Amino acid sequence: MGKAWVKARRRDPYYRAAKAQGLRSRAVFKLVQIQERFGLIYAGDTILDLGAAPGGWSRAAAELVGPRGRVVAVDRVRLAPMDGVTFVHGDFTDADTQAAIFEALRTPADVVICDAAPKLSGHRSLDVARTLDLARAALGLARRALRPGGRFVTKVFQGDGYRTFLSEVREDFDAVKGYVPPATSKGSAETYVVGLDRTA
Ligand SMILES: C[S@@+](CC[C@H](N)C(=O)[O-])C[C@H]1O[C@@H](n2cnc3c(N)ncnc32)[C@H](O)[C@@H]1O
Repeated sequence: MGKAWVKARRRDPYYRAAKAQGLRSRAVFKLVQIQERFGLIYAGDTILDLGAAPGGWSRAAAELVGPRGRVVAVDRVRLAPMDGVTFVHGDFTDADTQAAIFEALRTPADVVICDAAPKLSGHRSLDVARTLDLARAALGLARRALRPGGRFVTKVFQGDGYRTFLSEVREDFDAVKGYVPPATSKGSAETYVVGLDRTA
């Protein structure tokens, strides 16, 4: 990363707040803002968190679901252990990892959250396409893992294919919204697609 990026990050209020509060990532503020807006997660829920490392969303989700709830977190990168979080190591697009996810879940999930990001190439159209591929894989898993009435949120980049993806999510959820949390970095194409009330 260049010096300008390091300087910008130091000035970023969400990065500073995450450091000051000992949080695992600044990404946690985005989940908090999505939660405030849509009320996705409730006490006692079972959550599937895809692309979970370093664990900011998983920790926030574990606090929201409380001792009666559970979080199953998945990433290719290992996650330091956390109370209330079961970690599955692997690529969630892979069949073996998916089998391990369903073994860890045991029961249908109430919410699937996905903040997974591919390695960015810097070529906008390629990065948009790769992010949509991951979001589609997350939607496929959500279709299999969620109970009727369940909720879904995934990260995408706005660009070619975004509208098509929204209509695919609409096939399975009663209400679908695109939302850019205020904590999203300025100039980023990142958007979260939120699906509420999974149809049976
Ligand atoms: C932006 S980070 C997630 C941050 C996390 N929400 C937090 O609050 O700490 C994106 C993560 O997605 C993971 N990832 C990307 N593609 C993946 C895949 N196919 N399977 C599992 N993890 C993946 C990356 O390893 C990375 O850790």
